[in-house]
Amino acid sequence: MQTKQITDKLQRPIRDLRISVIDRCNFRCTYCMPEEEYSKHYRFIEKKNWLNFNEITRLVKLFVQCGVSKVRLTGGEPLLRPNIDQLISQLKDINGIEDLALTTNGSLLGAQAQALKAAGLNRLTVSLDTLDSRLFQRISGKRAAVEDVLAGIASAEQAGFSSLKINVVIQKGVNENSILDLVKRFKGTPHVLRFIEYMDVGNCNHWKSKFVFSTQEIVELIGKHWPIKPVEEQYFGEVSKRYQFLDGEGEIGFISSVSQPFCQKCTRVRVSTDGQIFTCLFATKGTDLKNALRTQASDQDLLQIIQNTWTHRDDRYSELRSQESPQKTLVTSPKIEMFQIGG
Ligand code: GTP
Ligand code: 5AD
Ligand code: SF4
Ligand code: SF4
Repeated sequence: MQTKQITDKLQRPIRDLRISVIDRCNFRCTYCMPEEEYSKHYRFIEKKNWLNFNEITRLVKLFVQCGVSKVRLTGGEPLLRPNIDQLISQLKDINGIEDLALTTNGSLLGAQAQALKAAGLNRLTVSLDTLDSRLFQRISGKRAAVEDVLAGIASAEQAGFSSLKINVVIQKGVNENSILDLVKRFKGTPHVLRFIEYMDVGNCNHWKSKFVFSTQEIVELIGKHWPIKPVEEQYFGEVSKRYQFLDGEGEIGFISSVSQPFCQKCTRVRVSTDGQIFTCLFATKGTDLKNALRTQASDQDLLQIIQNTWTHRDDRYSELRSQESPQKTLVTSPKIEMFQIGG
């Protein structure tokens, strides 16, 4: 029930809403939430400040009126949010939502995949950076076992999620040796691996460009073993560059926000667990919706905040960083962390 497709200052429409439902995680990935770093400056959001499911549902309906048709639930780890399946069943029937997805680290899927499917979730994305147990332990901050994630993937398949996206962040010197193993494992399955360049998101991972293993390097490496060819974009603003295996055994994707920023087509808006709108993954501040939600604001008032925020948007961080400071992160004031906003 769209009233008006709104666009920002760079004529980008608002299409893809990503809602972080919890800022906690049961992993401590070294590139996102390093144990010794994140807690220095961060207190988790208190439960009373989490948007409740009715508040989230109300907001989603309003975002749909502005042009959103895709919704993704993220975290932290969204499966730590109690009764997340209930939220999914509230969202799935909203008129205008064509795609309802969730990004998870996979470790809790064994217990929850069936319920997510039954609630009406369309798609699942699982993060998995290596198949090597020891390396997995190291990357996830010794909190988790790769076997749990693989069991989670199996549970998702059994529950009827026929094609998963598997997100892999590659850090040079850490897990580039896992690329071929992962391709071997998932090639010929309905699942789609996506290799993500390590980004300078957040403040606590101490990113440097020398830790980036570029898409070009990954494409060359994979191509030496299994020839691949690029395929056409499926929709405006598709983040992942898709390639097919020439032998017909499926496809893989590459998310190259460091080497080939895609800000010009960025249609994504993010809402944090405590109801702030962020118009960029690298934002330093958000626009609060929670206070309005909790002080009897009308739908019209809330729409006004959303529309104002989007129409004034001119973010293009990755593009600016690559032009102005390719080696370093552009630090102004502290950026939002990935575990607060969910990727
Ligand atoms: P699908 O619709 O399933 O293809 O998902 P998606 O293309 O929205 O991708 P997904 O949510 O799986 O995002 C994968 C990763 O890409 C994220 O975890 C981020 O690391 C990166 N990413 C996604 N959106 C953005 C963005 O707007 N900017 C930047 N710089 N990176 C992004
Ligand atoms: N660079 C790239 N991707 C990242 N993710 C988390 N931190 C980073 C980073 N610094 C990815 C995770 C997961 C998603 C939530 O975000 O691997 O797929
Ligand atoms: Fe790792 Fe995702 Fe948790 Fe961050 S939110 S620590 S990337 S599992
Ligand atoms: Fe969008 Fe910001 Fe990512 Fe650019 S850096 S693609 S504007 S979220």
